[in-house]
Amino acid sequence: MPPKVPRAASPLSSCHCMRSQCLAKPLHKRAIDRRRPISTYGYVQAKSLVYSKHGSPQDVLDLHTHSISPPHSTLLTLRTLSSPLNPADINQIQGTYATLPPFTTSLGTPTPSAVPGNEACFEVLSAGSGAKSVQKGEWVIARQTGLGTWRTHLQVAEDEVTKVEKEGLKAEQVGTVSVNPVTAYRMLKDFKELKEGEWFIQNGANSGVGRAAIQLGKRWGYKSIAIAGGGGGKVKRELEELGATRVVTDEEMMGKGFREQVKEWTNGGREDVKLALNCVGGDAAMAMAKVMSQGACMVTYGAMSKSPMRVGASMLIFKDLRFEGFWVSRWSDQHPEEKKKTVDEILDLIRRGEFKDVPMVKVPWNWDTKKEELVDAVQGTLEGFRKGKGVFVFGDT
Ligand SMILES: NC(=O)c1ccc[n+]([C@@H]2O[C@H](COP(=O)([O-])OP(=O)(O)OC[C@H]3O[C@@H](n4cnc5c(N)ncnc54)[C@H](OP(=O)(O)O)[C@@H]3O)[C@@H](O)[C@H]2O)c1
Repeated sequence: MPPKVPRAASPLSSCHCMRSQCLAKPLHKRAIDRRRPISTYGYVQAKSLVYSKHGSPQDVLDLHTHSISPPHSTLLTLRTLSSPLNPADINQIQGTYATLPPFTTSLGTPTPSAVPGNEACFEVLSAGSGAKSVQKGEWVIARQTGLGTWRTHLQVAEDEVTKVEKEGLKAEQVGTVSVNPVTAYRMLKDFKELKEGEWFIQNGANSGVGRAAIQLGKRWGYKSIAIAGGGGGKVKRELEELGATRVVTDEEMMGKGFREQVKEWTNGGREDVKLALNCVGGDAAMAMAKVMSQGACMVTYGAMSKSPMRVGASMLIFKDLRFEGFWVSRWSDQHPEEKKKTVDEILDLIRRGEFKDVPMVKVPWNWDTKKEELVDAVQGTLEGFRKGKGVFVFGDT
């Protein structure tokens, strides 16, 4: 009989050794923790934030684990790379938004539920044999809002998404392009024809939409008055650097001298303030209306103050102001081709370094991330001044 040769233990085969000083222990642990994202049979393990009733995010959000079957025909299985936490997403969870996703049992939740989130950058993980427009590894964004994006993976029909050329872009940039920058772009272009040197005014100027409007306006030669609430001098400097001609705080705008101040900036009132972008409402909107020129247009796209606007009759009769609204979801549904062009144009600017990202607070979402960490980030979205827009950034999911 040949002598018995002791076999070297494979460091990754098991972690049964009980020795606390075992040098291979970290390797053992990692090998055990590592999960297969795709099973032998092509099933993908996924986690989704879900809610089964409306209310405060911390009271109603849950983290649900489920699996996704392999895609067939024109289906795509997507891995989420990034997804922002926009104010409208929170309003949907609260049940106060104009459109609310239906509660269903499609994810196998114990009670019918919906997945929050409306915008994201996804990577194609696998595609059914009938899918022609995209391939594994490419990046896509949703064609319309309402997909439910706060989840690690999802399966969609090919025609629910649009391919994005990912070269030169970060997932967070792609994941935040289709709501805020598109809203700013369309509001500046579609309501009032501004000529170079003409002014627009906007409140909520430190928001994602506001920052995009400042940059696009500057690019197109428009002057702007940016009204921002919190953040102090740092925000003021940042908005000026982005291209705002003048930056004022909410308090300064509500102060007595504001009308005179604007008159001075606009060359004694000879330069028109033709357009106002309003996401605050209430008195803050009306203070803007007072400095708008005859025949100008105010586009309302948000109501952060939750206060209604009280429009004086003289603003309509003598000043002939126009008050309109804009909703990017409806516009995107009605203008799919134009939306793609707008998105591509903005992504090109980002690629060339000519459009700065909104400051972001990245919220890592890995397979082991606790539900509480995700829910806390969501809960914080509507609470006071924040350093940046919350964005889920997905890691080892
Ligand atoms: N209609 C549409 O199609 C459309 C599309 C996109 C966004 N929106 C709306 O536009 C608004 C901004 O969205 P976003 O994603 O750009 O925002 P964001 O980047 O998340 O920032 C939120 C902004 O809201 C401001 N804010 C919060 N509470 C406020 C209050 N009570 N009064 C005045 N300002 C307040 C904050 O001001 P500070 O920085 O001073 O704290 C911040 O600038 C939201 O109402 C959103 O629903 C509408």
